[in-house]
Amino acid sequence: MAEQPDIEQLQTTLLAEITAAGDDNVLEQIRIGALGKKGSISARMKGLGAMAPDERKAAGQSLNALKSVIADAIAARRDELQAAALEERLLTEIVDVTLPHRPVQTGSIHPVSQVWEEVVQIFGDLGFSVAEGSHIESDWYNFGALNIPDEHPARQEHDTFYFNPGPDGSRKVLRTHTSPVQIHTMEKSQPPIRIIAPGRTFRCDSDQTHTPMFHQIEGLVLDETTHLGNLKWCLLEFCKAFFETDEVKMRFRSSHFPFTEPSMEVDINCSWQDGQVKIGVGDDWLEILGSGMVHPNVIRAGGHDPDKVQGFAFGLGLDRIAMLKYGIPDLRAFFETDLRWLRHYGFSTLNVPTLAGGLS
Ligand code: PHE
Repeated sequence: MAEQPDIEQLQTTLLAEITAAGDDNVLEQIRIGALGKKGSISARMKGLGAMAPDERKAAGQSLNALKSVIADAIAARRDELQAAALEERLLTEIVDVTLPHRPVQTGSIHPVSQVWEEVVQIFGDLGFSVAEGSHIESDWYNFGALNIPDEHPARQEHDTFYFNPGPDGSRKVLRTHTSPVQIHTMEKSQPPIRIIAPGRTFRCDSDQTHTPMFHQIEGLVLDETTHLGNLKWCLLEFCKAFFETDEVKMRFRSSHFPFTEPSMEVDINCSWQDGQVKIGVGDDWLEILGSGMVHPNVIRAGGHDPDKVQGFAFGLGLDRIAMLKYGIPDLRAFFETDLRWLRHYGFSTLNVPTLAGGLS
């Protein structure tokens, strides 16, 4: 047992070093110094061969015990150091999730998205919900159900994009207006119906005020008593809220759409100065939408009885009212994905339109 005091001594020293080790590197040096190939414990292990059998057994046991005590102590200290490091990181990298966020400066909201949200807000407040439809429609939903029979001139007026004929010979179309949503909605729901349907529409047309893809907002109200007066009030309220002025004047011009009877186009008053348009002042007029009382044939096509229910519909040019409200002169620029244009006309990402907080 001559080795015992030496081993005890070694254990005391090593344990003290381990406890004092301040980081992983120091700890690793201690491990190599003790348990490594040429380490203090390993060297003593090698010395066992030269001992007498009795001595060797006792010394071997003590050395093995020492080895595991030291290995355990190193592992425990390593865990301790790691836990302390984590604790420190958690304290220094603390995030206060209750702090107000900082405005993100990159990226902005496209005027079409902004106006889309504004319109949804306003009609939402008037009790309308939002309906959606598909961009690809059958001839029936885009035309037939809307009282536009095959030979009707409106088909030519619409500059329709047609798909190749399917196996049954029928041709799908890219919807030329959002009015097909009227039919889908009537098929799916029971009056009272009060919806708006914002979305993309397509016509084969391109100049300063027309692009092959543009946006419309359809409106549909259907119940037992809704009349033309309700339509006028509703659109007037919308215009006042949207253009953020009580001054705006509206002019209802008698017109014709196959799917409404009577039909009216709506103009608002404006002035032009140096190529800039101002809404709600001046004696010029600008057309912003088509509207009318839903035609009995359309109500029937939607699965309802025109002797029992009636209502109004309107179709509003979304890009058009965006141009008017925000003084954007050329419609084509909306869809050119020019970042400089977007930086100029885009809206802050955090500026969500609400009626209470202001729309724009
Ligand atoms: N769908 C018509 C268009 O695209 C607009 C409209 C909708 C008119 C609903 C009356 C009623 O021109």
